[in-house]
Amino acid sequence: MANWTSASRQALADLLSVDTWLPETMPEYAQGFMYMLGSLTASSFVVLVLSGVVLAANGPASWSYNGADRFAAAVHFWAVQAFFFFMMLHLWRVFFTGAWRGGRKETWLLGALAFLIAIPTAFTGYLINGDFYSQWNAVQAKDGLNALGLAWVNLPNAGQMFGMHVVVLPLTLSALIFGHIARVRLKGVVPPYPAAQVQTHTSKEGQ
Ligand code: HEM
Repeated sequence: MANWTSASRQALADLLSVDTWLPETMPEYAQGFMYMLGSLTASSFVVLVLSGVVLAANGPASWSYNGADRFAAAVHFWAVQAFFFFMMLHLWRVFFTGAWRGGRKETWLLGALAFLIAIPTAFTGYLINGDFYSQWNAVQAKDGLNALGLAWVNLPNAGQMFGMHVVVLPLTLSALIFGHIARVRLKGVVPPYPAAQVQTHTSKEGQ
């Protein structure tokens, strides 16, 4: 009789297995570039986090300076562009291959949630730039959030936005991306749709 302990043991055993994370073969259909887009999104996210750690360690004033700090800020900026670019292409690939099929709806939902959380993560990063554009965006978006009853999210408050951008949102996003990729590894990559049956009228019956 299954209980919580044995169900958790089984789930953990599957999650921690080398067969899950290091399979020795890959299905032929998953070897094309279209199937690399998720990994490219994840790789951009790693660059994003690493450059973000450098920026956070040096502190908010640092990224307006010249030299190495500007370089870290530029790497962070271009990693965001790559992250969203590859994520959109990946979203098209999974949409057109119907990748939610075969018990993969949680994979889809975790991906969609990651997309939703990525938006405020990027936006709060923009807000802590502190230039006139970001201040303008902060006060405009504050009106919108007030109207939604979310007044505790105080966008012109640089301290709150800093905490959201470097801790709350990226940790949430990392957990969602981990869950998403773990689901992909557990389920394997979805097989393509079956090829359409084409009727040929020239072939003789029974041959
Ligand atoms: C946060 C950004 C995301 C990352 C880092 C990511 C990462 C990945 C990776 C590495 C794979 C393995 C296969 C591949 O690379 O094509 C994958 C598969 C998948 N992703 Fe994402 N993904 C993200 C966003 C999304 C979004 C927005 C959706 C849809 C709403 C989505 C839905 C799926 C589905 C359904 C699969 C399974 C594909 C299959 O079995 O063929 N992902 N993802």
